[in-house]
Amino acid sequence: MADSWVNPAERLGSDLHLVLDTTQGGSRRAVLGRALREAITEGRLAPGTRLPPYRSLAADLGLARNTVAQTYAELVAEGWLVARQGSGTRVAPRARPATSPRVPEPVPVRREPPAHNLRQGLPDVTSFPRTAWLAAARRALNAAPGEAFGPGDPRGRPELRRALAAYLSRVRGVRTSPETIVVCSGVAHALRLLSGAKVLRGTLAVESYGLPFHRSVLDAARVRTVPLTLDEHGSRTTELSALKEVRAALLTPAHQFPTGGPLHAERRAAAVDWARGSGGLLLEDDYDGEFRYDREPVGAVQGLDPQRVVYLGSLSKSLSPALRLGWMVLPDHLVEPVLHAKGEREAWTGVTDQLALADFIESGHYDRHVRRSRQRYRDRRDRLITLLARRAPHVVPTGIAAGLHVVLSLPPGSERSVTQAAAWQRVAVDGLAGFRHPAATMPAHDGLVVGYAAPPDHGFGAALEALCRILPPPPPDRD
Ligand SMILES: Cc1ncc(COP(=O)(O)O)c(C=O)c1O
Repeated sequence: MADSWVNPAERLGSDLHLVLDTTQGGSRRAVLGRALREAITEGRLAPGTRLPPYRSLAADLGLARNTVAQTYAELVAEGWLVARQGSGTRVAPRARPATSPRVPEPVPVRREPPAHNLRQGLPDVTSFPRTAWLAAARRALNAAPGEAFGPGDPRGRPELRRALAAYLSRVRGVRTSPETIVVCSGVAHALRLLSGAKVLRGTLAVESYGLPFHRSVLDAARVRTVPLTLDEHGSRTTELSALKEVRAALLTPAHQFPTGGPLHAERRAAAVDWARGSGGLLLEDDYDGEFRYDREPVGAVQGLDPQRVVYLGSLSKSLSPALRLGWMVLPDHLVEPVLHAKGEREAWTGVTDQLALADFIESGHYDRHVRRSRQRYRDRRDRLITLLARRAPHVVPTGIAAGLHVVLSLPPGSERSVTQAAAWQRVAVDGLAGFRHPAATMPAHDGLVVGYAAPPDHGFGAALEALCRILPPPPPDRD
């Protein structure tokens, strides 16, 4: 038998058809619990919806008040509902699973979003320069010729390639012209295109620690990777000459990702010598080259030999990863193969954003935004380092001279418990182990990769406090 009850709109704020299905058996409490879970799962009771008071629901359903109270309490304990003094019982903010409407049984508890985001890879998205970007977009759209709105050239808009050529040579020492630049949606897309263009034939040397997402892009393209060992001076590029099957090497020379060292001058030279001597290719991922604080800017390796280096950059750290705009500066002989891999028409990046970025760069707003962001991130980095020195002097930060993250060296064997503590305290932060190449042979170190750009200004202090709470205690004194 199945009873049904239509809830009056004034109680729930919306109609609800609650089916009390007794055919599956169980106590009245179990039947009501099932019906409520089902209504939440199916989205008929949305997150935040206030449930009727026990008494009125009990009266409507012909149940004892206690039965309703106990059912609510049970669902609160399971994480489906939340009860607050004075505001009654509501559907929990994340109670509804994203898929599968008929998952019958309880949802795990800790489903809340992180309270503090200290994950690497994110800029402070709240500081996106909306007004300046809008103004750039308006100017660029007014000035654009009609043909700009036809099918896109896979090279990217000429306005943007001109702006990038001038910017990259001025700021990063890249040697290029608009003809050797191909616009793409970011570094990951560039790796896909290079794989598709068969530029990465043979084996690709990568760094022992790197971005797992890039590894998965390469794996998906069936590019075999072998890891170079590294230390505080970046990757040991001298190892390349012994790796006979390697045809190309992917490096992060300005700021090894994620460990943080800049590639030492001798290792830069060794990489270029290897490429020249073996006919190999270097892929230079300059993901956060604009953000350096305590040392002279290191120019791009590409400037040493533009015909042996593919330079890769994007807006993901400097402006926003949501724009999906990046660029490749290619050796002459690779322009056509990459364009061929891209296809006849631009299918990845919209023309309006390309035009807006061209104006944004040429009008000086990009420089201004980067300078402001650099100052903000440097201040944050300094606050982090100062706090750690005071509160956790036994935890040593490395890779602090540049970028938007630092690596905290942890006592051997402690990384897992620290990341577990972080999850429990709802601090989003990554352990170093997740960045390690599965075939890496160098000794593994325990560490935490802490991004300091993502929290909004008003939440940064609390995020640092939360970080200090999850760090291991100092080792006991030995005397
Ligand atoms: C090492 C590294 N390279 C490149 C990028 C940027 O990738 P994309 O341009 O695909 O967003 C990131 C991401 O934030 C990164 O960590």
